[in-house]
Amino acid sequence: MNEAKTVFKGRSDKGKEIIIRYPAKKDLKAMREYINTLSQERTYITFQGEQLSLEEEKKFLDSHLEKISKNLAVLLLVFHEGKLIGNSGIDLKERVEKHIGVFGITIAKGFRGEGIGVKLMELVISEAEKNLPNLEIITLGVFASNDVAKEMYKKFGFIEYGNLSKGLKLENGYVDHIYMHKTTK
Ligand SMILES: CC(C)(COP(=O)(O)OP(=O)(O)OC[C@H]1O[C@@H](n2cnc3c(N)ncnc32)[C@H](O)[C@@H]1OP(=O)(O)O)[C@@H](O)C(=O)NCCC(=O)NCCS
Repeated sequence: MNEAKTVFKGRSDKGKEIIIRYPAKKDLKAMREYINTLSQERTYITFQGEQLSLEEEKKFLDSHLEKISKNLAVLLLVFHEGKLIGNSGIDLKERVEKHIGVFGITIAKGFRGEGIGVKLMELVISEAEKNLPNLEIITLGVFASNDVAKEMYKKFGFIEYGNLSKGLKLENGYVDHIYMHKTTK
């Protein structure tokens, strides 16, 4: 059982203390506040202002705690001084795609550009390689305009395999959706 298991304690490149650990039931409120704040920021994620209720976030957390316990997902949270400031995960798909894990990552505004994303991504991939026996391919989707994320993914060996023109419809226009993948086995 990985619930709340700590995988890293250290500092960001700017010296901020960070703890990276698996989620637990007690994180529900912090997780809801975190995603809702990111959504309001309208950054490079699929939530663009939508707000999740506590019940919706509970469904997300409960299903992930279950998937983690069944070795079907990895989810890590980053904390600084007790505040949730980042998350990342890999979720295995189902049936004939059960060897494919979908990757996602976010770091809170105010904590970006100081090496936390790279550390978190390293840990999520290594936890997934250890704990998800079915995992063979990791895929992700990224806004074509998100240069920071695309650079980071390339450094981790991700290769672009598709570009869905106008795949993302935002309030102020369309953005292409880039798909990348990396083989683990
Ligand atoms: C994308 C994101 C997760 C990266 O995390 P981060 O902590 O900011 O990134 P890091 O400081 O670890 O830097 C990661 C790499 O990104 C690249 N990078 C960072 N800042 C950059 C910048 N200003 N310009 C270009 N590339 C940059 C570099 O390759 C860097 O690696 P390096 O420092 O070894 O050269 C984070 O910025 C974020 O959450 N952004 C908003 C949401 C988002 O875009 N999520 C991803 C959706 S696909």
